[in-house]
Amino acid sequence: MILILIGYMGSGKSTIGRALAKKLGYDFLDLDDYIELKENKTIPEIFKSKGEIYFRKAETFYLTELLSSKQNLVLSLGGGTPCYGNNMGVVLNAKHAQSVYLKASIPTLVGRLKQEKQTRPLIAHLKTDEQLTEFIGKHLFERSPFYAQAHKTIITDGKAQTELVNEIKQEILI
Ligand code: S3P
Repeated sequence: MILILIGYMGSGKSTIGRALAKKLGYDFLDLDDYIELKENKTIPEIFKSKGEIYFRKAETFYLTELLSSKQNLVLSLGGGTPCYGNNMGVVLNAKHAQSVYLKASIPTLVGRLKQEKQTRPLIAHLKTDEQLTEFIGKHLFERSPFYAQAHKTIITDGKAQTELVNEIKQEILI
């Protein structure tokens, strides 16, 4: 089984994914970390030197590779992964895989992302909390139809890590 965690930047995909993998005795991989390892560059470096289109192609390539080669894995995607090309189709059609959307509200995302803007090229230029709130509001609205296709949706606001891990474990079929 591969459990695929999707959601906006700052929704907790990597933190929850790591804890969930531990609980299930599965391996954990973060698609961004895997891309950085394979490309030997950080995500901001890839955006800067090769551009976003190159990054999106690499994202599709490594997503497809991982979904066809791994088992017993929790895989956290990047926030944009489900929204490009046929990536969401790849996720939904992958054998022995289930996807979970970690849904977080705009204030929760803003609160987390304002501390972590620098590692995320799409929001690094936004200066004020107002700009960040407006950007996230519009962006999340555009991306929600993709995220909503996940097999399960888990509301994350106000829930502790252990609570979320238990809730996901109950929702998925292993
Ligand atoms: C992106 C999200 C990032 C990373 C890249 C683009 C996006 O991943 O893939 O900066 O388009 O939302 P996280 O969701 O892990 O921050």
